[in-house]
Parts: sequence; structure tokens; C-alpha cells
Amino acid sequence: MRRFIIFLTVVLSLAILFSGCKKKEDVIKVGIAGPMTGAQAKMGTDFKNGVTIAMEEWNSKGGVLGKKIEIIVGDDAADPKQAVSVANKIVNEGAVGIVGHFNSSCSIPASDVYNRAGIPMITPASTNPQLTERGYRGVFRVCGRDDQQGKVGADFIRDKLKIKKVAIIHDKTTYGQGLADEFKKHLGSAAEVVYYGGITQGDKDFKTVLTSIKEKKPELIYFGGIYPETGLLTKQAREINMAVPFMSGDGSIDPKFVEIAGDKSAEGTYLTFSPDPKNIPAAKGFIEKYNARFGELGPYSIYAYEAMNILLASIKESGTTDGKVVIEKLHSMEFSGALGKIKFTEKGDVAGSPYVIWITKNGKFEEYWKQ
Ligand code: ALA
Repeated sequence: MRRFIIFLTVVLSLAILFSGCKKKEDVIKVGIAGPMTGAQAKMGTDFKNGVTIAMEEWNSKGGVLGKKIEIIVGDDAADPKQAVSVANKIVNEGAVGIVGHFNSSCSIPASDVYNRAGIPMITPASTNPQLTERGYRGVFRVCGRDDQQGKVGADFIRDKLKIKKVAIIHDKTTYGQGLADEFKKHLGSAAEVVYYGGITQGDKDFKTVLTSIKEKKPELIYFGGIYPETGLLTKQAREINMAVPFMSGDGSIDPKFVEIAGDKSAEGTYLTFSPDPKNIPAAKGFIEKYNARFGELGPYSIYAYEAMNILLASIKESGTTDGKVVIEKLHSMEFSGALGKIKFTEKGDVAGSPYVIWITKNGKFEEYWKQ
């Protein structure tokens, strides 16, 4: 009897072990990382929504390589240190690739982890040039770069607004300061920079800095940063009777910016971002699906959707999840999807990514100017 019980225990343990292994092999795990909590949580949520739609579409067609796709959601809370620990967690849980992160200050240190693990990372939104300048073969982005974005912003000031005095503020992050510096560099001598300085992300009262800027009488305030601070800066500028327009970049073009600033304060704010996906015929199906399920499209929802599609298409074409093979496939393939055609450069950037100027009108964003 004892022998039989021991035999039964061994058989059952093996069965459990093998069923566990089988389950593991039945799915392909993809990491999705960004700020899921904190002041920038809207962006992480947009990522998650876009990626979820992509995952469900692939799974409804049988998945990839005969396996269902599962996502591992990592919350970096827009914090570089947390991004690294989340990256390690995602790698340890067996992700074969990553869609993320949002902030350049998170994507850059996290990319060290993914590079070491030999798995590809595609960020929908990290625009700091440094990310793809470090020679990591497996790092890609489906968005543009701040050297392109900052230049278009500066060209707009020089060629369209023709203003001569600007103040530049940044949030001291890799992205915010980097973008502000690109803007300043490209502006050159076209306008005088009457103020240049940093604020701290998470602070709530910017009236002291705004008051000193007011004295310098700029005709425009450029802010390199993300929407929570863009909203507060704009709001508080109006509270101290500064009517000058603000200008910012892709990190600010979200309804949350208007919500924080208020419609009136936000009115007339210029923003650099890629062209409206509503004008891309191939994006229509996704936008309708997204609207019906999650509401208004966030700025990077469709980029996250597309990053996931590209990652899964490259795995499918590779016939394996082996990171080395998939990374080379990402370099060689041309993808045709909701954002039109995408082909990566040797560095992992997208070949050609035009930025245009948007304006905030009646609480909404509309395309305003392009070169
Ligand atoms: N484009 C922003 C960044 O790179 C979101 O941080």
C-alpha cells in the first residue's frame, strides 16, 4: 500500500510538472511597460489599451506560431529606477519582447536590461535621440526623435510666428531637457532666449518661476516636459495675468493637459506631434474599435497597437521567438499597418517621421501648421 502511495505521488507530481511545462510552452509572453500609476498613468493606460486590442486580434486568429499571446504589464510609474526593476521582472517572467516604455528616462536604463537578455524592445513613445544611439541592436521605436521634433518647433517660431523673444522651461528629465535643448539649438539666433531653466516634475506651484519669466516679457514660453506640469504651468501663468502662448511637445498633447489647465488657459497652446492618424485610411478600423471600447484615442494608443503588431509579425515571420532571429527580422522587414508603412533604420528609428504643429482650440487639438 505504502509503495502504491509513493508511486501515485510520483506519477501525480510528474503530471503536474509536465502540465505546468506544457502550459508555459502554450503561450508567448510579451511585456508591456509604462507609467500605469501616478501622474502620467493615462499614458500607460493608453499603451495597455492599444496593446490589448492587438493581442486580442492576433489571438482571435489563432495567436502566433500556434500559441496564444499573453501580456505581462509592468508599471514603471515614470520612475527610472522602477523601470529597471520592472524590466528585470518582465525578463524573468519569460517575455520574448517588450512594448515600452513611455518616458525616455525609463526606456534608456530599461533597454540595458532587455539588451542583456537579448530580447527586442519597441517603444511607442520615447523620443530622446540617445535611446537608439547606443548601438543596441534590439532597441526600436515607432515614434520620431526629439532632434526632429525640436527642429520643427524652432522652424515654426522662426518661419510662421516670427517672434523674437522666448522663454524656455524644462522638467530636468532626459526627455524634457533634451527636447528643450534641441529646440534652443535649432532656434539659434532666430529669437532671443530671455529665460532658460528647469522645474521639478511633481511640483505643484510654479508661480515664482513664472513671475520672474513675466518680467522678461517673452512672446512665447516653450516647455519641454509632460502634460501634468504643462497643465499647471499654463494655468498658473494665466492666474498671474500672463497671456503669452505656450508651446510644448508630444508629452503634452493629451486631453489631461487641457483638463489640468482648463479650456481657457490651454487655448492657443502649440504642440509638436506626428500628423493626425485619423487621416491615415489604414488606421480607421483600429480607431473605431478603440473608440467603442476605451473612448477617445490617446496620443500614443495607436503607436502601442502598432508596436505590438510589428513585434508579433516579426516573430511570426521568424518562425521562432529566439530574440537574435526576431531582432534581425525587425531590421529587415517592412511593416504595413495602421500607421502606414514602417521600416526601421540601422539604428532602430523609423525612416522618416514628420512632425507637425498642432494647436489647442476649444479644449481639443487640431493640426495647425506643417513644413
Ligand atoms: N516622448 C516622451 C519621452 O520620450 C514621452 O519621454
